[in-house]
Parts: sequence; structure tokens; C-alpha cells
Amino acid sequence: MPKKQDQNRREFIETTGKVTAASALAGVAIPHVHAAVDDTVKVALVGAGGRGTGAASNALSVSAGHGPTKLVAAADIFESNLKSSLNGLSKKHKEKVDLGKTGKNGLPERAYIGFEAYKEAINNLDKGDVAIFTTPPAFRWVFYKYAVERGINVFMEKPVTADGYGTKQILEINKLAKKKNLKVGVGLMCRHSRARGAMADKIQEGAIGDVVLMRSYRMHGPVASSRTIPQKLRNEYKDLEEIRWQIRRFHSFIWASGGCFNDFYIHNIDECCWMKGAAMGDPEHTGGDPLNVMGTLDKWTWPIMAQATGGKHYTENDQGQPYVDQNLDTYSVEYTYADGTKLMHYGRTIEGCHNEFASYIHGTKGFGTFSKNGHWPAPSALYTGLTPNPKNQTWKFPARETNPYQDEWDDLLDAIRNDKPYNEAERGALASQVCNLGRMAAHTGQRVMWNDALNAEPLAPDLEKLVGLDGDAPVKANADGSYPSPQPGITKKREY
Ligand SMILES: NC(=O)c1ccc[n+]([C@@H]2O[C@H](COP(=O)([O-])OP(=O)(O)OC[C@H]3O[C@@H](n4cnc5c(N)ncnc54)[C@H](O)[C@@H]3O)[C@@H](O)[C@H]2O)c1
Repeated sequence: MPKKQDQNRREFIETTGKVTAASALAGVAIPHVHAAVDDTVKVALVGAGGRGTGAASNALSVSAGHGPTKLVAAADIFESNLKSSLNGLSKKHKEKVDLGKTGKNGLPERAYIGFEAYKEAINNLDKGDVAIFTTPPAFRWVFYKYAVERGINVFMEKPVTADGYGTKQILEINKLAKKKNLKVGVGLMCRHSRARGAMADKIQEGAIGDVVLMRSYRMHGPVASSRTIPQKLRNEYKDLEEIRWQIRRFHSFIWASGGCFNDFYIHNIDECCWMKGAAMGDPEHTGGDPLNVMGTLDKWTWPIMAQATGGKHYTENDQGQPYVDQNLDTYSVEYTYADGTKLMHYGRTIEGCHNEFASYIHGTKGFGTFSKNGHWPAPSALYTGLTPNPKNQTWKFPARETNPYQDEWDDLLDAIRNDKPYNEAERGALASQVCNLGRMAAHTGQRVMWNDALNAEPLAPDLEKLVGLDGDAPVKANADGSYPSPQPGITKKREY
């Protein structure tokens, strides 16, 4: 049962939102008449890296009608990350960052370090507040469970899961989140792009006929931590314990992130699924039952099967140092939907090749583009024929696009303030599972069905028990310092 004080505060947050939104519509400013009750939505950041700092900044920048918001706590496993994130946020948002007095270690009192720091950060929140999860994806379900049990709203970055086990965990925990009416945002911000949303509606209305094929491309040089040389050859992080080393290089380790596949490709793969109709409009509606896809095939709107190829072409960098990460350099995946529609995804992380970052859709009567050169702006437009020939354009998004990274936060706060149904966890978990499916097909060399990937052997089931730095890492290095690689055709049931 929520404490009475919490109930009042949450009701106040919702009511204030309704009043403020209504006044904004009418163009009338309402004076702040409830000084006795604090209507601030408090925010706690777990994972104070690049995106965490960005997401917290978006949370503190929501429009006046959805504010006020305040960062009150933060957690990380690296003190240096926490310090630099909080420094940046304090400079940018001065009065909206308050984590208490600064201690001797140079950190404020509500900045926590370690594998259990997430609990301490979340414990500073009350009903109606939001916890941000921006660590590597493997930890999502662990943090989500803790926040949901405490009745706290959540914003968690994509990918939401790195394996089928994580997907099933999120789906299970989410039942309680829905029961508690928690508001949950997932950082698939393209779903909040107004241009893509308008285009998805047009496609559902039949503007390009029946959808038959989608193509997505994420091809560029190696970025983030997707390619890794042995720890002993690096000057920085040389003496880091194995577990934090793997987390630091999380794009290189499949258990931590789903590898470059999940981390880089999920946006393009998810937006294609959206255009085809997956969780169309309603973030909570997945269609069918993810645990019984074949039994609910008539409603299922995500792919059901994948086959894929992939290869490792370069095994060392230009200084002759070996790459020891678990990623392949190229991936080509053919996803199949229940009605036979195909989604082809192409991924490459090799320097010096043609770069492409785009998503396209083909129907029986036309063609559409919705990503080109990045996530934003989205050149959402429809054409007759098979190419984006301007002469054949039949529709294009008529307005100037806003930033989807900010829009996703305004939408979440709007739901919190106005008590609108809002839970993107299921949709985010399923989009992540589509990645797990394609990646597993490439890594095993097998044709993989939805259920096979969902029920595959867990890659890191014990993360909840991880408390100190001496715990075993979920994957062990071989004698030469390399990590187990996928061996398609040899290792068929698991990925490495
Ligand atoms: N939506 C987008 O466009 C977008 C863009 C960038 C990153 N992301 C996502 O955000 C997430 C983080 O990516 P990033 O680039 O910020 O990585 P990062 O390495 O910069 O930040 C991750 C932070 O989490 C901390 N951390 C790791 N494990 C932790 C734990 N158990 N408890 C507390 N802190 C922990 C790390 O120390 C680090 O500071 C990834 O899932 C990534 O895919 C999304």
C-alpha cells in the first residue's frame, strides 16, 4: 500500500498536470497555488555515461507544462563517470540538480557507487517519480524489478534485453508494472518521431498497398566499444577487474549488450517492425502472445523466424594487435513475418566501405523512406515505384520535425502528469527480442524460430547476485586473451 503522503503527492502531480495542460491549451497562465505540496517529479539516474547524461538532461528539459523535474540521485560503478556526468548536468541545469552536500570524495551525498548503488539511488524516489536506466542492457531487468516493486516510474534505454532470458524477465516483471499503472518509457525514440508516426498511419491506411518488403541498413566503421584488443595491451583499464572491464567494453560482449547487433541495429529494425504494424499507435499492444506465438499467429505483428549470415574479416587492427571481442564484422539477416513479408537487415562495422544508415519500405503500390543518414531528422516520404524519385512523391511529412529524444520525455511526463496509460516495456522487450532472434541466426548459422531464441540458454542469469568486484564475469577469456566467438555451423544451439 502506498503511504498516504505518497498518494497525495502522486494525485497532486497528476491533477497539476491536467490543470497545466488545460491552461496551456487555453493560453492562460495558472499561478502556482499549491506551494504547500511539492509537485516536482524527482529523477534518479542509474548509469551516468554518455546516454545517461543525455537522458537526464532531457528529463530536466521537459516543457513547462510537464515540469518541474529535478535530479536528486545518481548511481554508477565508476566514480569518474559519475563525477563528470554530474558536473556537466549541474553546469547545464544548475537549480534542477540537487544531490545534497558534496563530501570529501568530491561527490554529493546522493551519488552512489557500486553494483548495488542502483537500489540506493532508487530509494530516494517516491510514487510519481522516475528512475532512468542507462547502463549496458543486461542489467535492465534487475533494475526494473526493483523499481516496479517499489512503484516507481521508469525510463530505460534500448536495447531492453540482450537475450531471451532477459526478455522473459521483463515481460514477467511488466505484469506487475501494468497492475500498478506505472508509466514506463523505452529509449526507442524513433517511435516518438512525429514524422515517422504520420507515415506509419499513412501506410496502415493503405497508401502504398500491402507491405511486402522492408530493408534496413546500419553500415559504418567500428564505433563505441564494438571492437576490442586484449586488456593487457591497453594503457587505460589495464588493471581493471574482469567484470568491470567487460562492462566498460560492453558492445564487445554479447551477454552485456547483445553486441553491436542489438546496440546499433535495434532502431532500424524496430522502426521497420512499426511500419509493418507492430505495436502500432498503442505502445502496450504487442498483438498475440510472445510466449505462444504460433498459437496466436493471426494477431502476431513481429517477425516469427530469421536466417542470417555474418563474417569476421579482420582479426587485428592496423598495429597488428588482435581483436578479441565477440562481434562479427558483417551481418545480413532475413526476417520472415507470418504473412510471408520479409525484413532484410544489413549491418557492417568496417572502415573504408560504403556507409549507409537507412530504412525503406516497399508495398504493392509504392515505396517509402523513413530513416536516412541517422535517426533525426527523418525524411519520411512516400512514392510510387521503387525509388525515392522526387517526381513520384505522393506524400511527405508536412511539418518541421522536433527532436525525438526530447519528445519521448515530454510524452512520458505528459503520461505521468495526466495519468495516461503508458507502458513501452513490452514493446521495447519484443523489439530487443527481434534483435536476439536475428543475431542468434547469424551466430549459429541456423534458421531460428521465435520460440528458439526466446528459450535459448541464458547468457548471464546471475546478474542480480552481482554485488562486488570479485564476482565471476559471465564470459571467460581463452588462454590467449580472446573471448569465445560465434562458430556458425559448429556451435548451433547457443551463440558461442
Ligand atoms: N537511444 C539512443 O539513441 C542511444 C544512444 C546512445 C546509447 N544508448 C543506450 O544507452 C545505454 C548506455 O550507453 P552509453 O553509450 O551511455 O554507454 P556508457 O558506457 O557511456 O554509459 C554506461 C554507464 O553505465 C555504467 N554502469 C554499467 N553497469 C552499471 C551497473 N551495474 N550499475 C550502475 N552503473 C553501471 C557505466 O559505468 C557507464 O557510466 C546502452 O544501452 C545504449 O544502447 C541509446
